[in-house]
Amino acid sequence: MDIVNLDPRILFAKVAVGEVPCALFWDSAELAGTSMDYEIRIVTEEDTEAVLELLKKNFFLDEPLNDYVKLIEFKDSTCEELEQFCKEKIHEKNSVMAITPSGQILGVSLNGTLEEDYGDVEQCQNPKFKKILKLLNHCAKIFQPIFNERFPKSSKVLNIRVLSSDSAWRGQGIAGALIKRSRQIAQEQGYDLIRVDCSSHFSARAVSKLGYELVYELKYEDYKDNGEVVFKLPHPHTCVAFFIQSTTSP
Ligand SMILES: CC(C)(COP(=O)(O)OP(=O)(O)OC[C@H]1O[C@@H](n2cnc3c(N)ncnc32)[C@H](O)[C@@H]1OP(=O)(O)O)[C@@H](O)C(=O)NCCC(=O)NCCS
Repeated sequence: MDIVNLDPRILFAKVAVGEVPCALFWDSAELAGTSMDYEIRIVTEEDTEAVLELLKKNFFLDEPLNDYVKLIEFKDSTCEELEQFCKEKIHEKNSVMAITPSGQILGVSLNGTLEEDYGDVEQCQNPKFKKILKLLNHCAKIFQPIFNERFPKSSKVLNIRVLSSDSAWRGQGIAGALIKRSRQIAQEQGYDLIRVDCSSHFSARAVSKLGYELVYELKYEDYKDNGEVVFKLPHPHTCVAFFIQSTTSP
């Protein structure tokens, strides 16, 4: 396969007869005067450990809900339930990652066919993760009838379940690029809609910029258990927001 055009954003590759035609999507992030090229590609099962490594250094610690409950208390400890949640849909081959030519993963969007809820709260052994699951299931339950009124019940929905970029490369459009590529994959795989549940102001910002529609939101201050607010998140994270976009709209 010969590379015929070195455009900074897209590398078009000339393909020989019998080869699968492809365009390799490249993008770049800039930080403090340096720039980093990366490709967005599908996460395979072989990538699982490397993806988890990135998530344990970032998402497990700094996703606003994980951070608030201090999901990871000690260096090198983990949350098995969250690891399982991250891994369980990789086999669907619709998750994507931003990876540099030298193999450094800069960000991931772990996607999967939408489930009714986030999993069985009662089965969850980790009390901190259980709190988070409970909130997300609560939102998913309220969201369902709103969804049913707005969209055909038979819609096939791809869900962005985990979105994370390396903390050293934030604010450079990596999440935006991952979300865009996820929608393309949803299109290619016959999904009608793509949904992103945002617990962070920054992920909500990334999807809003891409024209996703806010279908449901719950302010953290309005989510109470036994009359008590459960998550008192720091500014600017104010709510869980569920966004949807059709895969067929331009
Ligand atoms: C949310 C997250 C994935 C966004 O990744 P990203 O690669 O920085 O996203 P983008 O560069 O596409 O930017 C999205 C928006 O958030 C802003 N942003 C992202 N991280 C930021 C930070 N730490 N501080 C200030 N702004 C930030 C960006 O500037 C951009 O807004 P803008 O268009 O007004 O400039 C990343 O912040 C992250 O991994 N956070 C921790 C995990 C998490 O919260 N995941 C989402 C849970 S739903």
